[in-house]
Amino acid sequence: MTNEQMTSSETEPTDDQPAPTPGTDGLTDTADSGGETTTDRTLLEARDLNVYYGEEQALSDVDIEIPEKQVTAVIGPSGCGKSTFLRCINRMNDLVDSARVEGELRFDGKNVYDDDVDPVALRRKIGMVFQSPNPFPKSIRDNVAYGLKVQGKDDGDVDAKVRTALERAALLEEVEDQLDASGLDLSGGQQQRLCIARAIAPDPDVILMDEPASALDPVATSKIEDLIEDLAEEYTVVIVTHNMQQAARISDKTAVFLTGGELVEFDDTDKIFENPEHERVEDYITGKFG
Ligand SMILES: Nc1ncnc2c1ncn2[C@@H]1O[C@H](COP(=O)(O)OP(=O)(O)O)[C@@H](O)[C@H]1O
Ligand SMILES: [Mg+2]
Repeated sequence: MTNEQMTSSETEPTDDQPAPTPGTDGLTDTADSGGETTTDRTLLEARDLNVYYGEEQALSDVDIEIPEKQVTAVIGPSGCGKSTFLRCINRMNDLVDSARVEGELRFDGKNVYDDDVDPVALRRKIGMVFQSPNPFPKSIRDNVAYGLKVQGKDDGDVDAKVRTALERAALLEEVEDQLDASGLDLSGGQQQRLCIARAIAPDPDVILMDEPASALDPVATSKIEDLIEDLAEEYTVVIVTHNMQQAARISDKTAVFLTGGELVEFDDTDKIFENPEHERVEDYITGKFG
């Protein structure tokens, strides 16, 4: 999938749809408390979420309430629907022809599948980072500025915003003197932090990460893990990982999906790893299958 596809506008609001309030994208601005206190306020909520690819069901009756400004890990064996779930949250599944989504996915109370939601605006508020770092063949500066430019925020303030995003992504110090060098010349770990900076630049509320460290070496992985914990002070982070130690290390909440696209258990991470309710979850956590 190209990044052009990601930002292409699919369903612009039309005249015969009710006027969204208060913005024009059908999405309300989430209240910014200004502080960094952790709340248990639900920011993302799935209700009876079912996803099909053609005839095949990938997610089955998923109900979940994801708290804001915490790290929620999504774990489970390969093919259990982790990536599918993540892609529901910012409607990336819209780009898969055979995908059909039923039920509700609420972002700050608003169903993102309502007709008046603009998926492009949604993805500005709910950014995404993929498994393999995918910087554009552009300068470091332009990679980060990309999100700002395509989103109409190119207001001369770009350099400051680029630096802020790089700083938040824990990359500024390493690249400060080479902002015009190609993003592709960075190491794998730096490239992934560049992609995180690109996702952060438009100032989203949520960052989705699909196995963001699985292509990285242990040192680079550890930097990404530290960064994710810091990011949760300002953003709601949902991270798919097949690495259970990683989930245990960095997440506040853990969602365990098992075969059939079923969300079997969702709870505090400590509870999931120390004393899960379901035997199937315990078996998975202790490596009896998967
Ligand atoms: N684009 C797609 N087209 C058809 N089937 C898909 C597609 N993406 C995923 N699937 C299927 O949906 C199920 C869940 O996949 P996925 O969400 O990628 O799982 P995970 O990320 O947990 O490995 C799998 O059976 C997979 O084959
Ligand atoms: Mg996946």
